[in-house]
Amino acid sequence: MAPAVLIEHLKKSYGTVEAVKDVSLQVESGEIFGLLGPNGAGKTTTLRCLCTLTEPDAGAIEVSGVSAIDNPRLARQKLGYVAQEVAIDKVLTGRELLQLQAALYHLPRAFAKERIDSMLKLLALQDYADKKSGTYSGGLKKRLDLAAGLLHQPDVLVLDEPTVGLDIESRSAVWDFLRQIKAQGTTVLLTSHYLEEIDILADRVAIIDRGKVIACGTPSELKDKVGGDRITLRIREFAPVEEAEKARSVLQDLPAVQEVIINSAQGNSLNLVVSPQSNALSAVQQALQAAGLPTFGIAQARPSLDDVYLAATGRTLLDAEIAAASTRDEKKERKQNMR
Ligand SMILES: Nc1ncnc2c1ncn2[C@@H]1O[C@H](COP(=O)(O)OP(=O)(O)OP(=O)(O)O)[C@@H](O)[C@H]1O
Ligand SMILES: [Mg+2]
Repeated sequence: MAPAVLIEHLKKSYGTVEAVKDVSLQVESGEIFGLLGPNGAGKTTTLRCLCTLTEPDAGAIEVSGVSAIDNPRLARQKLGYVAQEVAIDKVLTGRELLQLQAALYHLPRAFAKERIDSMLKLLALQDYADKKSGTYSGGLKKRLDLAAGLLHQPDVLVLDEPTVGLDIESRSAVWDFLRQIKAQGTTVLLTSHYLEEIDILADRVAIIDRGKVIACGTPSELKDKVGGDRITLRIREFAPVEEAEKARSVLQDLPAVQEVIINSAQGNSLNLVVSPQSNALSAVQQALQAAGLPTFGIAQARPSLDDVYLAATGRTLLDAEIAAASTRDEKKERKQNMR
């Protein structure tokens, strides 16, 4: 059977910005597939190319074996897309918006009515269906977006940041809903920069960074690949780089320590990969003490998806987000200064 989604060597630039440099991924039918990456990594651009809303510069895209480039209409029928930022008409009611969506997909009238009712029920929106969508809370709006994306019974539901800005309760309602539609056979492709969301929800994940896929697999495969437990420690709140280097040379000789990464974005803190279930923590503390290096904070944990990202890029997802935000702010500032 053809995969639900096949993307091969996708490329897309906006002027000089290479939004997607080389993305290949394969989503199997019936799975929840997560695309994880920091701001500006190219997630939305990838999804927009898949959903035929943006024309790629190069690469192949197939939806259940149908080329989205040669046969965009048919590919689009197989996809439901819920955008990152949806401009919904505030004057229309939830039901009216779904009716509009049904008309856009040319759904037969009787089928549309039935389908709208069942979507409203599935997303527990019956009580709000005839209220103006402008009065909806963020969680309700998102549920309405999901209903709209699913209305024409797509094989694949594509969701761009489905839970961003939602409170914990609404977020877990969306998660439950996605599991439910997966159980009914719908394939789900979603982006997120919430590590825990992807970890909990996704059967498989591709980590995307600066327009490229840097790792792909099940969350546990990816975590296993980065090896043992992690120790994070600080020499002091902001250690000089020479001190961090000295700590690294002391620590990398310890038998339990597999790898030491200096995280310059976090005040030269040290991220260690150590053999699991070893007495690494006390060995590390003793070695630093013997070298006359104080420890400001130290913690040991099982690897997370952030460690996968760190191992591949040398920075954590959070640092990448902060860097992307500051580049954006700098650009904004420069623009303002030019005025
Ligand atoms: N229409 C556009 N015109 C110019 N540049 C764009 C356009 N869309 C995206 N970009 C740029 O392409 C890069 C990738 O953007 P994209 O929106 O795909 O990232 P993302 O991973 O979805 O980020 P986020 O997590 O912030 O949603 C960014 O540098 C962005 O500024
Ligand atoms: Mg995006």
